[in-house]
Amino acid sequence: MNLSIPGDTALQVISTNANPIESRGNPYLEGVHTPLRQEIDAPDLEVIGDVPRDLTGIYLRNGPNQRNSPLGVHHWFDGDGMLHGAVIRDGRISYRNRWVRTRGKAAEDRAGRALWPGLIDPPNPDLEQTWGSDGWLKDTSNTDVVFHNGKAVTTFYQCGEPYLLDPYTLETVGAVDLGAHGARAMSAHNMVDEHTGELLFFDYATSPPYMTYGVIDASGRLEHFTPIDLPGPRLPHTLAITEHYTILMDLPLFWDPGLLRQGAHKVTFHRELPSRFGIIPRRGDGDSIRWFEAEPCYIYHVVNAWEEGDEIVMEGCRFADPEPSQEIRRMYAGPYANLLAWMRMDTTWHRWRFDLRTGACREEPLSDRVSEFPMIHGRYNGRPSRYSYHVTFAEAQTVLFDGLVKYDSQTGTAQRYQFGEGCYGSESPFAPRDGAQGEDDGYVVSFVSYPAEDRSELLILDARDISAGPVCRARIPHLIPSGFHSCWIPGDRMP
Ligand SMILES: [Fe+2]
Repeated sequence: MNLSIPGDTALQVISTNANPIESRGNPYLEGVHTPLRQEIDAPDLEVIGDVPRDLTGIYLRNGPNQRNSPLGVHHWFDGDGMLHGAVIRDGRISYRNRWVRTRGKAAEDRAGRALWPGLIDPPNPDLEQTWGSDGWLKDTSNTDVVFHNGKAVTTFYQCGEPYLLDPYTLETVGAVDLGAHGARAMSAHNMVDEHTGELLFFDYATSPPYMTYGVIDASGRLEHFTPIDLPGPRLPHTLAITEHYTILMDLPLFWDPGLLRQGAHKVTFHRELPSRFGIIPRRGDGDSIRWFEAEPCYIYHVVNAWEEGDEIVMEGCRFADPEPSQEIRRMYAGPYANLLAWMRMDTTWHRWRFDLRTGACREEPLSDRVSEFPMIHGRYNGRPSRYSYHVTFAEAQTVLFDGLVKYDSQTGTAQRYQFGEGCYGSESPFAPRDGAQGEDDGYVVSFVSYPAEDRSELLILDARDISAGPVCRARIPHLIPSGFHSCWIPGDRMP
């Protein structure tokens, strides 16, 4: 479908989905979580302020955007993946959004309705799936996006097939059949080493091997793949990389093993178990991994990791107690109380040091302020870094980002920017200035949404002084739902 909007010939509606979404009062289908029903191209956004002439690149953000009314209790993590992309160059900004054309979405489009139950619904054993590591959820590819080998690569946190999309048009090129290449599946939070162009990935599953790890080279060839021995099924969310090593995680938050054997998925925090971090040479086999023990916690996202002499340093957002307390549970009522309680993320910036000589791990909190979705200058991933850009959580019943905080690990200082009343942001990557000199020489970009006004904006802030507020705002003519992960493709890496 190709409709033009009266009075705005430049903006094109590429597709619409007339199927109404029944929210049934689910707060993750309402307000700023309302799924978009259309895909649009907006080739030249109206801008308030001046777009920096020394900023060239593409901001991509992934997130859940439910296509059809859910069968059961919709979880925020269930929505069909949709990419939002802004191309910035020559002082102009274009925007478009597209669903990731997953196999699951295609099957549901053919059926005209949802087919898969969600994360907190009972699995449907009659559904035939031939992709993903466990095959009980729809692989929505809604979680993460990285740029590798000229394509945007989207992935799903419960593991599945990576989908490749054109970073300009956001059209889905296809899914990568990892099995045909000798691997199994890919989780979200694979990472690209911009120095080598390699993509490092892992997956996890409820049957052995419980984890696998692999390296795809800059040209897209699987170069290394190995099973990782774990004591049982685990639920890691990310890995971390350094120049020569990868850090894999065995954290004490995982499916209850007894219930899992009966086909039920109940997440439990095992406070009696340590957090374990497995450090493996980048192309090491599973038996070369060295495990380090730390205090129990959960980690959704790492800030960065690097090598310092005999030590590996890792910074991340640490969740000391990921299972909601009775006090938190009492804050919520109704059919979505459990979902809302589990989504409270009291995560703080934290540092672990793994001593390769002694096998010991030291750890220390770096802040007591709650922050998440950390981003750094992509070129520093796996190398020593100083600055990171996190979002802060709004006082709301769902996960919403009310501002940004920039941390300086050298001085221990922080800069803050609040998006403002009724405005909620996205994971906000660092975007280096063209020809940048220095780690924070550039900008921070974020899609922000105004649910009361049914519209969004792209904010561009000076990374050296985010507290000064945006240097410009570009108006986006629909409401981008709150979402997950993002990446910045700098001008010198644009295909
Ligand atoms: Fe994540």
